[in-house]
Amino acid sequence: MCGIVGYTGPRSCVEILVDGLRRLEYRGYDSAGVAIQAGGDIAIRKSQGKIARLTDLIARKPVAGTCGIGHTRWATHGRPSDENAHPHRVGRVAVIHNGIVENHRTIKERMIAKGRTFCSETDTEVISHLLDEYVSAGLPLEEAVRKAVAELRGSYAFLAVTDREPGTLVGVRLNCPMVVGMGEGEFFLASDLTAFLSHTRDVLFLEDGEMAIATPAGVRITDFSGKRRERPNQRIDWSPAMAEKGGYRHFMLKEIHEQPRAILDTLAGRMLPESGEVFFETLPLTGEQLSRLKKVTLVACGTSWHAAIVGKFMIEGMARIPVEVDLGSEYRYRDPVVEEGTLCVAISQSGETADTLAGMREAKGKGATTVSICNVVASTIARESDGVIYTHAGPEIGVASTKAFTTQLVALYLMALHLAQARKVLTSGEISLHLIDLAELPRKIEEFLKREPEIAAVARKYKDARDFLYLGRGISYPIALEGALKLKEISYIHAEGYPAGEMKHGPIALIDERMPVLVLCAKGESYEKTFSNLEEARSRGGRLIAVGTEGDDLLREKSEDAIFLPPCGRYARPILEVVPLQLFAYHMAVLNGTDVDQPRNLAKSVTVE
Ligand code: F6R
Repeated sequence: MCGIVGYTGPRSCVEILVDGLRRLEYRGYDSAGVAIQAGGDIAIRKSQGKIARLTDLIARKPVAGTCGIGHTRWATHGRPSDENAHPHRVGRVAVIHNGIVENHRTIKERMIAKGRTFCSETDTEVISHLLDEYVSAGLPLEEAVRKAVAELRGSYAFLAVTDREPGTLVGVRLNCPMVVGMGEGEFFLASDLTAFLSHTRDVLFLEDGEMAIATPAGVRITDFSGKRRERPNQRIDWSPAMAEKGGYRHFMLKEIHEQPRAILDTLAGRMLPESGEVFFETLPLTGEQLSRLKKVTLVACGTSWHAAIVGKFMIEGMARIPVEVDLGSEYRYRDPVVEEGTLCVAISQSGETADTLAGMREAKGKGATTVSICNVVASTIARESDGVIYTHAGPEIGVASTKAFTTQLVALYLMALHLAQARKVLTSGEISLHLIDLAELPRKIEEFLKREPEIAAVARKYKDARDFLYLGRGISYPIALEGALKLKEISYIHAEGYPAGEMKHGPIALIDERMPVLVLCAKGESYEKTFSNLEEARSRGGRLIAVGTEGDDLLREKSEDAIFLPPCGRYARPILEVVPLQLFAYHMAVLNGTDVDQPRNLAKSVTVE
């Protein structure tokens, strides 16, 4: 997500901040800016686009000072623009922020009613207004921050400065990272230690619910009630490249581990499990129009197409609307019939995939209403669709899609529930149960990720195999496709995903001891049938890796290796099931010595046919 860096000390800080922002570039961003305390005021320099534009601006309008904050923005609320770029200065304060303020609309309405005016479309600006209100009323910045966080809901890390307190920097952490760098008479606060590792390796990681108050004289850590927290610094010996990846060996692994956080962010502000309600303010159709929809067409490519197939199961199963799924590259040329009452949903991480965009344009041209599910804010697909549901996965750098996929599934799940709600197919009690299932997913994935060494051990056993068959039924079938794609693209090992029931119609001929078969066989609606397919493969001498549900002793007995997941509902299951397959592909690739983050011949964003 966004990159944050702050400095207070004896040195001129503009260069230090800009250098820190350059080191955070790998996170992806669309705008950059700094706020510097200077001559009893705060000077802001910010611009949409790359850091080079910011440095041009600073060269044209120089600024100097020894305390300041800098930010690279990855848009979540509001398109990339100069106005939406951080820092956000309001009156006496300037703020930079990473994360999502869930209740920003409520606070904004209250502030507008008090006569305040807003200059951006961001959720961040409400933090600046809240702080300015308190600081202007005479509170020290530290107190103002404490009062503000009591009102904010969501996940955030932010830094604030005021012209009233030269040399003071206040930072806050709640579910988004923030780390303090301890120099000699100088201190750094950043989202990521890469930003200051060239200045100091002594650090202190803030925990959720903590604040840091830094001046050149020292740093104080407190909780949100003001109670002092003390703990020793840590000495970091990571290389700069390791630091960029948060200590993980590859971006892909980091992104696999970010999934619990990414799912929480995608759910944030969109559901109320207690009352069984789902909210999408960005859909172009009214409840009445949604209830009259005749068909949903899902268009996507690659991993996003696999998400679309899962989406078909979700929308048909829960909202009872017929769904057609197509690849962008096929849909655009097959002269599709688009009837009145069709909603076309384009799914794309990058929002720039040429075939998906062309597919969506084709549907729109023929009269469909269009909605996109995108990760990159203000991307072409997001801009051209009538409505957009953003997945809040944050920048995905590894070429192989992981957290973008699971957040697409979450967005589709919410969308299916939203349609079911509008069409009155499910009761709020039933929707509530689904939302509880969704809300439990981040914790379940977090727990499962702790068992990564188990998956690495399975990968070591199969590392020399050159062909794999992945089987799954029903909603797990697209997960078999996705698992096989992950393996192919990063380890260059041939893998085929197949609907388990189709195995006997051909691929069964391939099975022998040289072709391991990975079977998705969790407890659920098609368990018995998939189990029979597993037995068929076993009796042909296939080496079986099963992914099942905890406590399934029979599955353990019948397969050579078994990976167990916690039980969960039917529609949440694919979101959980894909995680071991991502880890398996990752470890197979590492063991085979391939370039995990940039596999050969692949690009992150495919903007050509
Ligand atoms: C696979 C992968 C690709 C993309 C595909 C579509 O890991 O990343 O298959 O899913 O190129 O990209 P988006 O989602 O950006 O449209």
